[in-house]
Amino acid sequence: MNDLTPINYQQAAYSMAAKSFLSRSPKLFINNEWVTSSHDATIAVEDPSSGKEICRIVDASDKDVDRAVAAARTAFDDGRWTGLPPMQRERIINRLADLLEAHADEFAEIEAIDNGKPKGMAAAVDVPGAISQLRFMAGWASKLNGEVIQPYTMPTGAVFGYTLREPVGVAAQIVPWNFPLLMACLKIAPALAAGCTLVLKPAEQTPLTALRLADLVAEAGFPAGVVNIITGNGHTAGDRMVKNPDVDKVAFTGSTEIGKLINRNATDTLKHVTLELGGKSPVVIMPDVDVAQVAPGAAGAIFFNSGQVCVAGSRLFAHRSIFDQVIEGVAATAPFWAPRPSLDPQAHAGPLVSKEQFDRVMGYIEAGKRDGASVAMGGDAPSADGYYVNPTVLVDVNPQMSVVREEIFGPVVVAQRFDDLDEVAKAANDTCFGLGAGVWTRDVATMHKLAAKIKSGTVWGNCHAVIDAALPFGGYKESGIGREQGRQGVEAYLETKSVIIQL
Ligand code: NAI
Ligand code: MG
Repeated sequence: MNDLTPINYQQAAYSMAAKSFLSRSPKLFINNEWVTSSHDATIAVEDPSSGKEICRIVDASDKDVDRAVAAARTAFDDGRWTGLPPMQRERIINRLADLLEAHADEFAEIEAIDNGKPKGMAAAVDVPGAISQLRFMAGWASKLNGEVIQPYTMPTGAVFGYTLREPVGVAAQIVPWNFPLLMACLKIAPALAAGCTLVLKPAEQTPLTALRLADLVAEAGFPAGVVNIITGNGHTAGDRMVKNPDVDKVAFTGSTEIGKLINRNATDTLKHVTLELGGKSPVVIMPDVDVAQVAPGAAGAIFFNSGQVCVAGSRLFAHRSIFDQVIEGVAATAPFWAPRPSLDPQAHAGPLVSKEQFDRVMGYIEAGKRDGASVAMGGDAPSADGYYVNPTVLVDVNPQMSVVREEIFGPVVVAQRFDDLDEVAKAANDTCFGLGAGVWTRDVATMHKLAAKIKSGTVWGNCHAVIDAALPFGGYKESGIGREQGRQGVEAYLETKSVIIQL
């Protein structure tokens, strides 16, 4: 922590608009209206930069969840959304994107206050990312066509066969706290383009941008009940969303542990399920690179968003001949990634999202040290209120250590040496996860060979964590089921109906 950024810096920096938003009373957004809960349980929301409570939100009861689902069910069944011309649905989704664009600065600030990420990062990454998810998916609303199919066993002309693409129905969407607004838009955009109605629940740690988004949903002109946004704890409200029989599809992003539980809980009513879960993504640095250029890339792969990224490059593999140089280069980025309060204009990294996450990450660092790892950078936390952890590099690790095997979800990378391509491909795949991977090399053949060998939903070459709404995103192995974004992203919200007509 920089001495010039006192802890009370944070609250003094809140804008009037943010203060006014934070002073609202806890409500749920159902049927385009702000409604009170059936009970008076609330959850405290903190600013992780100061560790102080800033407002309270509803902890939705089962009754509240059922009410939101019923609103979405009615809105789906009476056709007030699917019945609109696709062009009109496309325009309404785009209007939401326009409104978000018009309020971009306010959303960046609220996200920074709520999550702890620097406002500048939220403004550069989260808000534009959310807008582009909406805009990309809006276009699909008018482009979801079936096919005319010639039956296999019947003479040509005897039968007319075709498919229709129809929305699956009511979607329950549960998102995590690392990219709250971006995840919310990434979830609602394809559902709306497909013609589904939905209930969205942000994470209890970071509900604020989703609640503010609800204002814009009403303003954009969505019919009532199409988008419902509720707040509450995962094991109660989230659980009820997954089990409510009127929900047809569950879309979840979060931990692998809860993803598995949700998949089990969705089985009784055989809901469609997509899961985007944890990762332990490798970053492979080949000996042909310019280390001075690549080391900051490897640092950014793990320290961006304080490592709270599902595709964070948390396992660094550098070729033996350049290993020491790479570690030096990564360690040299410490001042750049030093955590600061989220509203400090100089911040590139903020605190972790919560005390729970802080304890978890510090626990992993301690476990790594106990298991024999050496600290090449950081390894500690600045003494400050708020949940700041210094960017950390652990070396002298082995594949059995928990810091190498488990998702830490903080600014902690484990670094290992390798000698050849097959060895590093095998090591990169020695994990239960398979979400992302980064390969840094100037040799095009090496790049394609590793892209083919690494088992993960995305492989980046000479970059990391580049996300684009047009490219499918999701995990192999225990990193998830299904894909979001791209054509596959909207197809995850569609049924296929075959129609066979005897002529
Ligand atoms: P979590 O998986 O418990 O929470 C994510 C979301 O799921 C939240 O909205 C929460 O309310 C909801 N949820 C929790 N339990 C639920 C249940 N039984 N039924 C339905 N919804 C439920 O994640 P948590 O506890 O906040 O973080 C723990 C670890 O998970 C992190 O340290 C990190 O390793 C991983 N994680 C991964 C994320 C990713 O982007 N892949 C995002 C957040 C966490
Ligand atoms: Mg949890």
